[in-house]
Amino acid sequence: MWYPLVLSLHSITRWAVIIFGVMVIAQAVLGIAGRRAWLANDQRGVSGFFWSVNIQIVLGLILYVFLSPVVQGALSDLGGAMRDGRVRFWLVEHMTMMIVALGLVHIGVARIRRAAEAPAKHRAALIFVGIAMLLILVSIPWPGTGADPRPLYRLPW
Ligand code: HEM
Repeated sequence: MWYPLVLSLHSITRWAVIIFGVMVIAQAVLGIAGRRAWLANDQRGVSGFFWSVNIQIVLGLILYVFLSPVVQGALSDLGGAMRDGRVRFWLVEHMTMMIVALGLVHIGVARIRRAAEAPAKHRAALIFVGIAMLLILVSIPWPGTGADPRPLYRLPW
């Protein structure tokens, strides 16, 4: 019962991550090009991205540690899991890339907060959220790609 529920939430929250990520990148580009101040809307985008990524990571950890039959099966046969690209994707690649992205998001948010001037805030948002988004986008199991493609969204029923 919990597995389909958390897997669906994890599938759908990805869209919040992507929407906020695109919003932050677009606002940072416009902020740099227009040499404009750091506005409340810029801060809202960054907070939305920060929280959606954090929620997504917590859901991922719950799947990884407690619920996912793929990961649980892999942990009982690590050697076999590492030889199977589909299982290795879930055991190592997806989790590692997303946690590196989380690290970048945290560093980026700290840099934005510490920067005194608006241009430095926009630059930090563009660089750190931009690289985090690249890692996230290439590590999502999009339909028709990778070792274990998944649907664009999943409902629990
Ligand atoms: C921004 C971060 C992340 C995004 C955007 C993301 C995205 C996704 C997506 C789209 C799926 C497929 C869901 C489906 O089958 O419908 C998935 C599955 C999964 N993710 Fe993540 N994920 C993230 C972080 C993590 C992290 C940090 C972990 C582990 C610590 C993790 C563990 C898993 C697991 C175990 C599965 C399901 C494997 C299975 O049982 O089939 N995810 N993730």
